[in-house]
Amino acid sequence: MPKLKLKPIVKKIIAIILVVIILGSIGIYSYVKIKKQKEYETTYDYKLTTLGYDDNTIKIFKEKLQNKDLDYLLKQEKNDIYLNIISDKYFIYNDFYEYLDYYAENQDKTIREIVERVNTNTDKPYYEETNPTDTSKKELMLVNKYYYLDSSYEPENIVTIPQTYAYGDLGSQKVNETTYNAFLNLWNASHEAGFYLMVNSSYRTHEKQEAVYNEYKNSQGTNYADSIAARPGFSEHQTGYSLDIFEKGHSSKTFEGSESYNWLIANAHKYGFILRYPKDKEEVTGYAFESWHFRYVGVEAATYIHDNNITFDEYYAYFVK
Ligand code: DAL
Ligand code: ZN
Repeated sequence: MPKLKLKPIVKKIIAIILVVIILGSIGIYSYVKIKKQKEYETTYDYKLTTLGYDDNTIKIFKEKLQNKDLDYLLKQEKNDIYLNIISDKYFIYNDFYEYLDYYAENQDKTIREIVERVNTNTDKPYYEETNPTDTSKKELMLVNKYYYLDSSYEPENIVTIPQTYAYGDLGSQKVNETTYNAFLNLWNASHEAGFYLMVNSSYRTHEKQEAVYNEYKNSQGTNYADSIAARPGFSEHQTGYSLDIFEKGHSSKTFEGSESYNWLIANAHKYGFILRYPKDKEEVTGYAFESWHFRYVGVEAATYIHDNNITFDEYYAYFVK
């Protein structure tokens, strides 16, 4: 068979085609690569990396924040405070800038304190910006120095606590039915444990609260009154969900640390009650420690609050509001 011989001109054409294909491929490859790089440079991942944030931090920023917040971060220097705040267990997205503002003024506080104070409004003065309580939340309604009840508000289904369990004239101690039934269960359990609990104060009308507050104010001044009693409209005693409880024979002065007090601290949540103004939370609740003031919030909320050592004020902000 005669060997097929290409003409030189054909050889040249083939060589030129091959060169064009190779150069073209390199060109296209480089173009795509540069385009991809240019596109990547417009992303938050690239920009935040350039600022010094690591991949995991960027992932959390993108999960917890919106683009406008990422734009804000890009205008700031890298700072661990952002990730620390976002990573707090009770971080609330809508409060992001309020946390930052409060932190700027309170750099001595821990992140937990910053988030806790903003969540409970206690980064702001008491009684200045107030809102009506959402009473539709029932046993989870919040009444404190930022949320108030109308002077005409009365609990539904008020029942009288019999004198077996309460001080004062018959009919002077009342709560709503839900709280009463829960209290009976609590009382029975505490009785089985060897204690005899007595209710010292319960549902208070707006007028009654006014009298209680004014008595402290007139005798010991506004600051003291505000540390121990709510201003009228701002007391959760008006909800019918609160009870001041001591063991028989004790007073507000002797109850703390007693066996019955310790029993209540360990068990009240099982019946839906919480210690509302704990010792280490004065700044968050706005009140001095009250060893006697228990609030019905239901078993689920009470158990969470007990187990996680937060106040009802913060529970409300994170889970209810
Ligand atoms: N002692 C509580 C704070 C009240 O007056 O409601
Ligand atoms: Zn009370």
